[in-house]
Amino acid sequence: MSEETVRRISIADAARHEGQSVEIAGWLYNLRRSGKICFPQVRDGSGIIQCVAVKSALPEELFESLKNLTQESSLIIRGKLRAEPRAQGGFELDVDSAEIVQRVSEDDPYPITPKDHGIDFLMDRRHLWLRSRRQNAVIHVRHEVIKAIRDYFDSNGYVLVDTPIFTPAACEGTSTLFEVDYFEDEKVYLTQSGQLYGEATAMAFGKTYNFGPVFRAEKSKTRRHLTEFWMVEPELAYADLEDIKRVGEELVMWVIGRVLDKRREELKILERDTSKLETVQAPFHRMTYDDAVAKLQAKGSEIQWGMDLGNTDETLITEDLGRPVMIDRYPSSVKAFYFQPAPNRPEVAMGVDFIATEGYGEIIGGGQRIHDYDLLMRRIQEHNLPPEAFNWYLDLRKYGSVPHGGFGMGVERFVAWMCGLEHIRETIAFPRMLYRTTP
Ligand code: 4AD
Repeated sequence: MSEETVRRISIADAARHEGQSVEIAGWLYNLRRSGKICFPQVRDGSGIIQCVAVKSALPEELFESLKNLTQESSLIIRGKLRAEPRAQGGFELDVDSAEIVQRVSEDDPYPITPKDHGIDFLMDRRHLWLRSRRQNAVIHVRHEVIKAIRDYFDSNGYVLVDTPIFTPAACEGTSTLFEVDYFEDEKVYLTQSGQLYGEATAMAFGKTYNFGPVFRAEKSKTRRHLTEFWMVEPELAYADLEDIKRVGEELVMWVIGRVLDKRREELKILERDTSKLETVQAPFHRMTYDDAVAKLQAKGSEIQWGMDLGNTDETLITEDLGRPVMIDRYPSSVKAFYFQPAPNRPEVAMGVDFIATEGYGEIIGGGQRIHDYDLLMRRIQEHNLPPEAFNWYLDLRKYGSVPHGGFGMGVERFVAWMCGLEHIRETIAFPRMLYRTTP
């Protein structure tokens, strides 16, 4: 076959081109050599393939440049694809020709070598670290999670209505707001959640979702907190707490199913014990906050009624369970201003948190909203929020108010759970945390 007709393929598609002459455009991932033969491992983002370059089959100069190629040099390589059951991915490429696009200098070599590096070293080089096999797998799982979330809502009658990032008011409490200088003397905040706007869109469209980045000025340095993360938030008109729980459960099952179906290869690279995900089935455990506190106390937690669950409590509560648990009816005092109080028990909020298995903690928070104008106004005042910033939100209780609710699911927490990661910092390409805003 002449060079002009050689097809450029993605490594991920190698199986469809067995026996053909192909071209791969990528970067040198690793290199082994032994005298008259060398094995450049090439990655192109879709996969990694081992190439076989034989001295006697190639021009001297090309063989020498391949043999001495430096890690992460970019190259276009051509050759014949051969099935090789022992190779990762199942194929090897017998090299016919290659062009080095840019050779990485020996004087300033690629900093991330196959040896172990500390996390700060890697995080400082996140722009390069993303090229590694593990990071590639994590980001592919993230992509699948996001696609599955969108597919779930898109195929169940929800309308996507994205909400603003500059907002005039707090949604989740004033202590975690990032303030921004808008023009002249105006201050705005980076949104903590699209929920309040989601409520307006639910009254307009019935069932909606918004999906975007949200911001929390939380000074918590835990493995579950970012200052910028992505949240998907469905909101439903004519819905109560039970409806919200049912939708959350269905969504979680849908997304897990998709990840197990499409991303086995990535989960294998991450050495994820997938049996732990396979045991996650509906119905999830259901528990009131009262029962959760009793269970936690029996397990030795110091939690008292009225306190929010800490990270350790969230881990304790599911440690003996193979399925997530939905905890509902929290004390109103630990929840945001907008929660509908429980019938006959106003000190309790009709909110629910979904706690994932294996210590991954809260992945979903939501519930039923106050739909009564006077009660909502009272709550805004009790929380010392400026009522004028909420005029439009109060309007929703004046013009055709109905029981409604929704929830928010954090993408990074969900991906960390799917991938079995210690820390959520690896679930987003460029994480923003208390002490990290670069690269
Ligand atoms: O429970 P939260 O704060 O709920 C809300 O913001 C509601 N307004 C959502 C709604 O009802 N529409 O956050 C929802 C989810 C959590 O369950 C968690 O998965 C994630 O967002 N989350 C975080 N993820 C990463 N870093 C943080 N600092 C997070 N805070 C919350």
